[in-house]
This record gives sequence, structure tokens and C-alpha cells, in this order.
Amino acid sequence: MYIGNGIQIVLRFFRLKFSDPRVYASRVREFLQLFPELRTWTQTLDLEQTRRLCQSFRKIPFREWRALKTVSQKAFKKRSSSVKRWTQPACFTLEDRQVQSALWQQAESRGMQHLRQGKVAALTVAGGLGTRLDFPGPKGLVPVTPLKRKTLFQVFAEKLKAIEKLHGIRMHWFIMTSADTHEATQEAFQSNHWYDSKYVHLFQQGALPAFTMDGTCLLTHEPSIHYYPDGHGGVFKALASTGYLDKMLTYGIETLSYFQVDNPLVCIGNCNFLGLHLNGMSDFSTKVVAKTSADEKVGVFVNQGNVLRLVEYNEIPEYLSVKKTKEGQLYFKWGNTAMHLIQRSFLEAMAKKNLPIHVTHKPMQHWHPLLQNNCSASCQKLEYFIFDALPLAKNPLLLEIDRKEEFSPVKNAHGQDSLDTCMRDQISRWNRWFSNCGLNVDLGNKASDNTHRLEISPLFADDYVSFKNMWHALVIKPNYFENLYLE
Ligand code: UD1
Repeated sequence: MYIGNGIQIVLRFFRLKFSDPRVYASRVREFLQLFPELRTWTQTLDLEQTRRLCQSFRKIPFREWRALKTVSQKAFKKRSSSVKRWTQPACFTLEDRQVQSALWQQAESRGMQHLRQGKVAALTVAGGLGTRLDFPGPKGLVPVTPLKRKTLFQVFAEKLKAIEKLHGIRMHWFIMTSADTHEATQEAFQSNHWYDSKYVHLFQQGALPAFTMDGTCLLTHEPSIHYYPDGHGGVFKALASTGYLDKMLTYGIETLSYFQVDNPLVCIGNCNFLGLHLNGMSDFSTKVVAKTSADEKVGVFVNQGNVLRLVEYNEIPEYLSVKKTKEGQLYFKWGNTAMHLIQRSFLEAMAKKNLPIHVTHKPMQHWHPLLQNNCSASCQKLEYFIFDALPLAKNPLLLEIDRKEEFSPVKNAHGQDSLDTCMRDQISRWNRWFSNCGLNVDLGNKASDNTHRLEISPLFADDYVSFKNMWHALVIKPNYFENLYLE
């Protein structure tokens, strides 16, 4: 035993002392093959620094590095696009709900049955950095409600509890985090007990390097490669590699109600939508809103030949985003709310595919090896997008929703899609419910004043129909509305 340990120690000594420099020399050669401009700098590194750099470089196989660098270089070249074949896609509109009311009702009962059999789970993507919001932490921890200042995560948890109250099933909740958001998210769930911990499943997405505009990889001070979350399209591989796709199978989950972390109006597990999705035998369905203007920052759906695609707002040519119909409406008007229903079997199939990589230009903090300083400059960020799986989905379906009821994301610190507009929209929604019940409580225009607010927890009601029932059932009704909180 003693001798064995001694041999181990001697071997480790030799490995560290002699083989590492050789191994690292070959790693450094690989690194410099891709980034020759960093040759002079790498010569200044000591063994420990070289070891760190090489270790972080080797998190990705060399051939993948080469492919990623090519992607970043090609992003500068103009793409040959097939925009000429883009046409308007079909959508089940708000009007269709009236015209085809039998279909709509039938869909509700099919969806409800599926939900009550425990075949639906929630899936939230919460790995983004939320830099546009200037919030120092995961976006899910932003206090978003007007009165109680509940975080986005707490609001979603209450929505899931409301589903349990209404349908008698506790839904599993899968939450994708990233290296940037995982720890803080985990801590927040542990200390706040927002939802049954046995039903909350946090898993981390993968990471990709980023590049300067000249094609050098971004570094940290250590020095090591600076990796960033690989985009929400990383969800397929992350679910597979963490074993959660298999777990979903054992839990009997067939459909995922997918939503982004930024929208407190999201309606999770909506039975009509679920029924339409199942009746249409769709792999991937989406709730859409009619765009308010050509420059609204939402992706738009287009048909390319017979294939449904989503084109991101910064990737659609301007002349197409402003194109109008004879009636004066935007031709490509169906905006992506990023609320999807996705079949588990489709997630599994997509985990085996390689999605394309998108390159976006963003100001990014990084360590400049030649200046020996931190700097912020426009860089190339590489990301997978979940909706690139759409062309591979069977029978994808679009459902128009009422934006006022279901869509008000928090994206920016100020202006459109900010905390202010989101709180205003929450308050207007609740006001509307009251006025539909014949009560006038219009505090909407005072929403920016903290003393004139109201709040309705999803535990009381999360849509107008349940609100009406709950309100009428209240034996003692409140006779004030300022700062009214209903739970
Ligand atoms: C996104 C959609 C856009 C849609 C709009 C609706 C993209 C590229 N575009 O725009 O089509 O109309 O929302 O609000 O998504 N995330 C991760 N990991 C990452 C990156 C992002 O989990 O690596 C999550 C974020 O936490 C967030 C969501 O993905 O929940 C969307 O990311 P965001 O950057 O906010 O997308 P938008 O550009 O606002």
C-alpha cells in the first residue's frame, strides 16, 4: 500500500515535470495554428498559465475549433438567401376561434385530458445573461409584479400551482440555466421554496467561444478561453447529456410547454393550444402575435416552399419586414412569442442533430492579451437557436393569441419591453378583468405611481374566465382597489 502510493507520487512528479511541457507544447501549436496573432503573447506565459490556457482550449476538440472559426469568418460574407420563395404561413387566428368554435372547444377537452394524465411538463430557458436589462443576476430573479415585487420565477411557480389546483396534477418543471446563472438560480429556489423541489429540475446548457471582429478567440485574465452560453438551441443537447430526456420518459411526459424566462403573462399548459397541437399531430407549435410595427423586435414566421421557418428580427431584409398586403397589413406579421409546445420525441430526435450556428455582434467584456487589460468591444457571439429545429418538425402549427392577455416580455432597462411597460401591461390586464365583470377600477394610467397599484396572484386566477368565477364566488368582496392584492 505504502509502496503503491510512493510510485503514484513519483509518477505524478514525472508527469508534471516532464511530460506536461511536451503535451502543452503540442496543444499550444494547435492553438497558434488557429490564432497565430497570439504567438508573441503565448511566449510570455509560464508553465502554469500555459497549462490553464491549454486545458480550457481543449474543452472543445480541435476540429470543432476549426469549424467554429470558419463560421465566424463566414459571417462577414453576404449570404445567398432564398428570400424569393418566402410566403405567408398559415395560422389559426383569433377570428378562427369564433368561426371554428366547435374545433376550438373540442381541442380544449383533448388538451385537458392530456394535461390531467400528467403528460405535460414545463420547460423554461433561463440561461441568458439579460445584459440589456442591467440586472446583476439571472433574469428569473427580477422582481416583476407591481405590488408584491414577486420574481419571474415565483410568478411561474404560482402559475404551476394554479394548474395543480385546477386540474389536480403537479407538473414537472425543467429549467435550463447556464454557467452564468446556475448557482444563483439554484440558491434562490433552495431558499425560497417557490415550488416542490422534487418537481424542479435545473440543468445547465453548453458553452461556445466568442471571437473578436478580427477572428481571435476571447480570453479571460487567467488566462483561459472565455466561454459563453451556447444559445437556447443548446437545450436539446443539454437535456440529453444531463439525462433529463430519459427522466421525462420515465415520468410519462410527452409534451413540453416551453417558454422564455422573461414573460410573466405566459399561459402555461393552455388546454386549447394543447388540443390543437395534439389533433394536428404537430412536433412543434408556437403561439404568435400580430406584429405592432415592422421594426418590432420579434422573429417572424415565413413559409419557404412547404417548410415553416422563423427568421430573426435582425436577419430579415428590411424590404421584407416592411412589405404590406393589399389591405395595408404587414405581409410577414406573425411574431414569435417563444411560447411553444414541443413533443418529447422531437427533443430526442433533435439532440442527435447539429443545428446551424448564428453569429451576432454584441459589445462584450474580455481580457486583451496584448494590451494586458480588460476591454469592451463589439465581438462575435456564437449561438444555437431552438427554432432552427422547426423545418425538421412534423406539422408545425401557429396559433394567434391576444397579446394583451399573454405577452409582455421584460427585455430592456428602459422604453419598450421594459419593467415599466410590463408592470403597466399586468395592471391593465387585471383592470380589464374587473371591468369585464362590470367594475371600474382603472388605475392603469397611474401605474408608475407606487401607491396606485393592484395585483392578482395566479393562485387566485390566471385568466379572465377563472377570475370571473372566483370573483363571483367571493362571499366578502373588497370595496377598495388601490393596493388590492388577491391570492
Ligand atoms: C427572443 C427570440 C425572438 C422572439 C422574442 C420574444 C431569439 C434569438 N429570439 O428574442 O424570436 O420574438 O424572444 O420575446 O431567441 N437564453 C438561454 N440561453 C442562451 C441565450 C438565451 O437560455 O444562451 C434564453 C434567455 O434566458 C431568454 C430567451 O432565451 O429566456 C431569449 O433570449 P433573448 O436574448 O432575450 O432573445 P430576444 O432577442 O429577446
